[in-house]
Amino acid sequence: MSVKKVTVVGAGNVGATAAQRIVEKQLANVVLVDIVDGLPQGKALDMMQSAATEEFDTTIVGANDYEPTANSDVVIITAGIARKPGMSRDDLLATNAKIVGGVTEEIVSRSPNAIIIVVSNPLDVMTFLSWQKSGFPAERVVGMAGVLDSSRYACFIAEALNCSIKDVRAMVLGGHGDTMVPVPEYTTVNGIQITQLLPEEKINEINVRTQNGGAEIVKYLKTGSAYYAPSASAVAMAEAVLLDSNRILPACAYLNGEYGISDVYCGVPVSLGANGVTKIHEIELRQNSLDALQSSANDVKELCEKMKALA
Ligand code: APR
Repeated sequence: MSVKKVTVVGAGNVGATAAQRIVEKQLANVVLVDIVDGLPQGKALDMMQSAATEEFDTTIVGANDYEPTANSDVVIITAGIARKPGMSRDDLLATNAKIVGGVTEEIVSRSPNAIIIVVSNPLDVMTFLSWQKSGFPAERVVGMAGVLDSSRYACFIAEALNCSIKDVRAMVLGGHGDTMVPVPEYTTVNGIQITQLLPEEKINEINVRTQNGGAEIVKYLKTGSAYYAPSASAVAMAEAVLLDSNRILPACAYLNGEYGISDVYCGVPVSLGANGVTKIHEIELRQNSLDALQSSANDVKELCEKMKALA
């Protein structure tokens, strides 16, 4: 089997860490692209010089142009600005829309068969924009948020229960913003619903902490936003595509009537494999979770309208 190729656009905190995880796991050869002269080249060379010690023989190169990205199997878009304290993800809208739109055009002209994984915020709107600019079928453009939000949820649940995080399976749906929807009815510890393990008030408290999971980190870091968990989540999705493993994961996908939601990208459970999103799973939700999902999708739609007005 020939080695796969992944392009990571944006050699900042999320992009460089994602690139590092991909080469260290030997999932693919990586092209790291950034507009800042020398930044992707320097980071790529630095990572190559860790290969002997970390024992990987996948490769990484840095570039400021898109020629080396040709025929990528997967493209992860992390280009853009990150949040500072006091900013919401939505505050990034105008700047990141220009960046993500331009990056998508560069990518698709050289990698017409790629699966695009969008990470730049505001996530759901940037994924919609990237899909529109790409001209790709919707199943080949997907956003990374549900894996991250669910992983944050799992972290807080394991902490509250003082149990191994390996046994926690958490689910967060909806838009990647304050209105994201933690779904306790599908969140389990080795099959046991958390509603049987934790009192309702504690679950509610964890839900709110999950919704503010990114902001909590921005507050600590002050100069940027989270990147270890976001990069791990993006790489988990890339791995599902590269290995065609058909994982069922929460991800930001294009909805066309599912859950009563149309013409918007939003976080739902999907099957993810070599062809991208091969299925959107329309699972039964408690009424309050379904209401919250629809309301979250509406918020994404409003932000999409705002973006269209800016264009
Ligand atoms: N083309 C390529 N790279 C670009 C472009 C562009 N047009 N514009 C900006 N970049 C690069 C920047 O030069 C920078 O190196 O994107 C990188 C972003 O890195 P960071 O500022 O470290 O931001 P990061 O924490 O990686 O977050 C990136 O992911 O999680 C989201 O909200 C986050 O939207 C943000 C994105």
